[in-house]
Amino acid sequence: MTPKIGRVFSGIRPTGHSHLGNYLGAIKNYVALQDEYECVYCIVDLHALTTVEDTLDLRQNTYEMALDLLAAGIRPEETILFVQSHVPQVTELHTILSMVTPLGKLTDLPTFKEKARQQPHNINYGLVGYPVLMAADIVLYKSDVVPVGVDQAPHIEFTREVVRSFNYRYNANVLIEPQMKNTETPKVLGIDGKEKMSKSLANQIEIAATPEATRQRVMMMVTDPQRVKRTDPGNPDICNVFSLHKIITPAGDVAMINIECRRAGIGCVDCKKLFAGNLNKALEPFRAKRGELAAKPAHVHAVLEDGAARARAIAEKTMVEVREAVQLP
Ligand code: TYM
Repeated sequence: MTPKIGRVFSGIRPTGHSHLGNYLGAIKNYVALQDEYECVYCIVDLHALTTVEDTLDLRQNTYEMALDLLAAGIRPEETILFVQSHVPQVTELHTILSMVTPLGKLTDLPTFKEKARQQPHNINYGLVGYPVLMAADIVLYKSDVVPVGVDQAPHIEFTREVVRSFNYRYNANVLIEPQMKNTETPKVLGIDGKEKMSKSLANQIEIAATPEATRQRVMMMVTDPQRVKRTDPGNPDICNVFSLHKIITPAGDVAMINIECRRAGIGCVDCKKLFAGNLNKALEPFRAKRGELAAKPAHVHAVLEDGAARARAIAEKTMVEVREAVQLP
């Protein structure tokens, strides 16, 4: 095996099935980075608790997320895949990092304000501390690179600040400032063509759905809003379906759509049918592998247990240094 050039960490919330935004914005990079980096990927069940009040599905969703990640190409023989709550050191580090975090910085974050708007009845303390727990996730593993979508940028910047504050306050050089890594599609829009694809906005296309369900979601996608009639020429530059064609569809067809849409040679319905077909084809190997894995739940649970044991070993090593730096008795 070629020597690895650093460590990667990322986390994903088990709030339901993964969608195209998760896949194109983050998971694709989780998979690609395995070739060069030692990778640690975490299903962040504790973070999910900040928004999920009814936890009946939490275990099942955590398991489903493990299926998604393994089916997408995470290789558990080399990569560590684990569940956040299985490594309790992260909550200890979260507490310690909270001491070098000004409260105003957390309540000023756009991500906090957005969540507070979305769930005004449940602005809990965990929601405020969400980025501190995320920083703890990242620095516990001394991660160099964090693959995420652009919505997480404020949290990565926050993590870098916390690292500097910790190292300065305790006169230590223990924690590492991570770098953010985006894909070529750091913000995938939902089927509404306006907002970021996300489960909370119900505008997602789930990657593990059936081909028919996928087709139905694609046919609901909003295209160029100026193009009202089939005979109107369209503008692919402002069409979300076209932006996804560019990622999923073979180059020849992309060039054809680019020309034909502008002169009303192809209509939005045909364009979306083409996209649905290509998307289903692109997701076929993932779905087949997911089906195979779903038939082996004991294997999937064993992967997560093994991942947690390997993660705990790294986490405890960091915590020995952190406790020493803070001079905890
Ligand atoms: P989460 O679970 O919301 O999303 C998981 C990953 O998917 C990316 N993503 C998107 N990318 C592009 N377009 C979209 N529409 C889109 N929707 C989601 C997210 O940017 C993310 O990379 N706070 C994190 C979880 C987390 C974490 C961490 C991430 C906890 N600890 C440590 C990195 C490092 C979150 O809620 O992701």
